[in-house]
Amino acid sequence: MESRLDQMDFDTLTALLAWQVELGADEPIGDLPVDRYELPDAAVPMAAVAPPPKPGPAKAGARPPLPPPMEKADPVALAHTALSGVRDLAGLRAAMAGFEGCELKRGARNTVFADGLAGARVMVIGEAPGREEDSVGKPFVGRAGQLLDRMFAAIGLGRENTGADGLYITNIMPWRPPENRDPNPEEIATMMPFVQRHVELAAPEVLVLMGNISCYALLGRKGVTRLRGQWAEALNLPVLPMFHPAYLLRNPGAKRDAWHDLLMLQARLRGGGR
Ligand code: URA
Repeated sequence: MESRLDQMDFDTLTALLAWQVELGADEPIGDLPVDRYELPDAAVPMAAVAPPPKPGPAKAGARPPLPPPMEKADPVALAHTALSGVRDLAGLRAAMAGFEGCELKRGARNTVFADGLAGARVMVIGEAPGREEDSVGKPFVGRAGQLLDRMFAAIGLGRENTGADGLYITNIMPWRPPENRDPNPEEIATMMPFVQRHVELAAPEVLVLMGNISCYALLGRKGVTRLRGQWAEALNLPVLPMFHPAYLLRNPGAKRDAWHDLLMLQARLRGGGR
């Protein structure tokens, strides 16, 4: 039986072939051409499709079999690898800026590392950069950050200070999540090795955890309303959970609790313990 291909002239066939090449079909996959116009219209049931041949001894000239598909690398293992040569904060900053194991990085403009006095007695850990932090490359520089600065200034601490009254500020996530959504547990787990190393290298006396995400990351629990107002422990350090300043902007009535927590922090730094 004469097929439709047999009825086409040379120019039409050449044009069809060129079109296939343009689509990327640049090599034949069978020994004989298949005229797909002549195939029956009805869909072939899956059960009728012959299973792929079992790999046998390679024929001379045959291509080597394709390698199995690559497994997705474990991002936490990638983080540990990225940290293996890190000895100081500059090295940590570089390792984080070069880390490709977290999707959030692709949507961010900057890697937001830290601000303030490295080595300060108090290290504040927030959640993740927002729009302003993402564009400036520093943590807590938007409205919530300005409130954070005023809160700590009220007990004599500040990120610009260089002595015992200094403050060191960072976040769990160095990249802004899209639409300021909460980072998810996988993203947090990926970045935790960096957070741990950050705390080791900054070596503060106490950690202040701002909001639910940092409580979840370091204490394994959310619910800052119940956690705040009492000291806990994480990474072998005393840890004080506090309301996030963004929450305080929305709920000014909670500032009274935040003031109580700041006084607890001040008492501890003065050796009062509280
Ligand atoms: N909120 C945070 O938790 N961190 C920032 O850096 C800014 C806002």
